[in-house]
Amino acid sequence: MIEPSNTLDATSAETIHGRDEFLLPGMLHLYEEPLVLAEGNGVRVNDPEGNEYIDLFAGILTTSVGHCNPNVVGAVTAQMKKLGHISTLYGNEMHVEAARKIADITPGMLNRTFFSNSGTEAVETALMMACLATGRSEIIALRVGYHGRSFMATSVTAHSGWRPLATQVAGIKHAKSPNLYRCCPSKTRCDETCVDKFVDDLEEVIVTTTNGRPAAFIAETIMGVAGYVVPPMGYFEKAAEVIRHYGGLLVIDEVQAGFGRCGDHWFGIQHHGVEPDIMVMAKGIANGAPVGATVTTDEIAHLWKGKHISTFGGNPVSMAALCATQDELHRHNAPKNARQRGDQLKEALKEMQARHPWMGDVRGMGLMQAIEVVKDPVSKEPDVERTKRLLEASREEGVLVGLGGLYGTVVRIGPSLLITEQEMAEGIEKLGKAVDRVGS
Ligand SMILES: Cc1ncc(COP(=O)(O)O)c(C=O)c1O
Repeated sequence: MIEPSNTLDATSAETIHGRDEFLLPGMLHLYEEPLVLAEGNGVRVNDPEGNEYIDLFAGILTTSVGHCNPNVVGAVTAQMKKLGHISTLYGNEMHVEAARKIADITPGMLNRTFFSNSGTEAVETALMMACLATGRSEIIALRVGYHGRSFMATSVTAHSGWRPLATQVAGIKHAKSPNLYRCCPSKTRCDETCVDKFVDDLEEVIVTTTNGRPAAFIAETIMGVAGYVVPPMGYFEKAAEVIRHYGGLLVIDEVQAGFGRCGDHWFGIQHHGVEPDIMVMAKGIANGAPVGATVTTDEIAHLWKGKHISTFGGNPVSMAALCATQDELHRHNAPKNARQRGDQLKEALKEMQARHPWMGDVRGMGLMQAIEVVKDPVSKEPDVERTKRLLEASREEGVLVGLGGLYGTVVRIGPSLLITEQEMAEGIEKLGKAVDRVGS
């Protein structure tokens, strides 16, 4: 049981009431009755009534080193007491140290970082950067991809529920999502042999729907909101060849998949042996402190002409959180732990799938694992009702998971990268009970 330490003590009902009165009504909540969380410690969170949950979703894959990680809390507190804010108009050691830590783990020539405050801002910066570097303005993204909630980011997002406006930023086109489970009617599941089909579509989009001179192709290494769609090996290598053939840059969005989450490497794209021109990061980068990062090469960085600034981006407190988070990820060898705990999780999910044919697909890499819920494995028709029941049952069993997919029928799991074998076993047991409850 976590000792209460905060000064506010509203009940869940009071918080929900206040939310309904003062916050924007469109904000998505996962559960039928919104869940209010008051405290956290490692992979555990509590509601105000003291109910405890194992958090297998980590604030949307963000508390990468666990809730209230003492080393992050210590670093943030110390920095807040020393110097809280200056803006990018002034230099600060923490800012530089954070950029150095990112350059240490990014592939190849990617060594220049611009820090902002969210994944959305990092995506905006990346696309602007690609347009400035190429002198072009057309962008290709993937269908069902998600890149954030600004005007530009919702325009590259291709997921109707996340595109509130009928009018989008001009010059953005979408290629076929490399989804092995859902793309090929003639096969139960596509495989690497389908790579050419996806890449041909990317090329066709360029030559038929753009002027043939795109600025960039942006893609997630694992499509998170899409329901952990894992592009097949070979896809990024060939997609990089195509976009570069037409003079555009490869922008890789690692907002969800970065920092060891996919196992074995620091970034998802490293599994594909491809070096992007620009990379975008956020979420797990600083364990919940609002940090977005856009990273590129010397050459591309120098092509950004004109002024650049951020009031909050790179602020010493967020940078202290980033540095402490990165140190924790290294100290615990997060990529290795993500692979081992991911294997443990996947094995358990596969066992559940063997008992329940409605678990149409179990997929993912490392600590990014998903279950796609279908009415039956042949039609693969999305089962919205059963997914909702599974989510509610998980909550009742005391485990938090997320949702994704075009129809909201993919259960997403993405806990802290430091989760232990014992904690994972506990989470699996609770999830298994929920799965069995909605099984028949
Ligand atoms: C792949 C990806 N890119 C960008 C974003 C936007 O990040 P943020 O919510 O921090 O603006 C998200 C958020 O879920 C994401 O999953």
